[in-house]
Amino acid sequence: MSRWQELEHQYFMHTIDRVPLTLVRGRGARVWDEDGREYLDFVCGWAVNSLGHCPPAVVNAVVEQVQTLIQASNQFYTIPQIRLAEILLQHSCLDKAFLANSGAEANEGAAKLARRYGEHRLDGAYEIITATGSFHGRTLAMVAATGQRKFQEPYVPLPSGFINAEYNNIEAIKAATTDKTCAVMLEPIQGEGGVNIPDDDYLKAVRAWCDEKGILLILDEIQTGIGRTGTLFAYEQYGVEPDVMTLAKGLASGIPIGAILAKDSASVFAPGEHGSTFGGNPVACAAAYATLEFIIDNDVAGNAKRMGQYLIAGLKRLKDKFRFITDVRGRGLLVALEFDSDIAQSVLMACLDRGLLVNRLKPNALRFMPPLIIGEAEADEALSILDKALSSLSG
Ligand SMILES: Cc1ncc(COP(=O)(O)O)c(C=O)c1O
Repeated sequence: MSRWQELEHQYFMHTIDRVPLTLVRGRGARVWDEDGREYLDFVCGWAVNSLGHCPPAVVNAVVEQVQTLIQASNQFYTIPQIRLAEILLQHSCLDKAFLANSGAEANEGAAKLARRYGEHRLDGAYEIITATGSFHGRTLAMVAATGQRKFQEPYVPLPSGFINAEYNNIEAIKAATTDKTCAVMLEPIQGEGGVNIPDDDYLKAVRAWCDEKGILLILDEIQTGIGRTGTLFAYEQYGVEPDVMTLAKGLASGIPIGAILAKDSASVFAPGEHGSTFGGNPVACAAAYATLEFIIDNDVAGNAKRMGQYLIAGLKRLKDKFRFITDVRGRGLLVALEFDSDIAQSVLMACLDRGLLVNRLKPNALRFMPPLIIGEAEADEALSILDKALSSLSG
């Protein structure tokens, strides 16, 4: 353990078992540790550094903004946040924006918006249906929304009004709907829950049900959005439009940010009903604008789609070679590899030794979330390291 890692153990609450690696620098798809050793990064800040580390377009935008105006409060108009809202809304099906600082916070705001909608349009309905296996964040209300017991059990009693219904099962949503329901909130593809991809017609059926009942469809695109799954937003692949969508992670290349986008019909907040000190901060907004502009101008989502197919094809070849790989699944560059036993941590460490960073999704599964700008060379390098790491374990 290095000196920095010892100090971390001394000073930090033990909320996570970190990988024994201290990162000090990043560029493109590469990062370097405190001893100057280089790694290929397929974790990418948990699906955040979509343009790689320190992309020049974003660095320049941030440097210019910190020299101009760092913070102003939402008491005033500021130009970076207005430009960001404009580009987000011009390239999505939504009409109005609210800016926050993280994914959980964006989802909290979306849940509050749904309750205001219920109050105005649905006779005071306040319940939100979410899915089993989902992940919506770490605040108390989002822990209640998150349909995984392991996140909920330490914090009972949880805020009420969140009903967890089985994912990828429209009948479960129908059965959970009552006259108290104001919204259904779903990830188009579940990220933290396991890279779970629903049936092609699931979201369409949910959309039709929400329309029939007059309730909101909230899509949490915090992990799937901003090109990650091969289109700017994942909803585009399912032929549906949400009433509300939340974003964070890849939006600002690593500067903390969150966003709630809503259709005009769902934009029911009145002045004073929601707010934030840092939300819409000029530096974060400048970073997000530069990120989005680059992604849109260079069809980075298209690259994520192509490279996702390439990576998945390579992983399927590894599955043919190693019998203990049971599944390869993913969309764009959100990809999981599952094993028949709990060896994910050992595979992660074997990859780390060989210069590749991957994410342990579950005890028996890894997740790959490389920058969306990778080419075949980086994918081949990752596949070759993974091959060697898996061979070292099977031998
Ligand atoms: C789908 C989804 N929603 C919400 C969150 C929470 O975002 P944050 O960690 O920025 O609060 C995450 C984080 O992994 C996520 O994947």
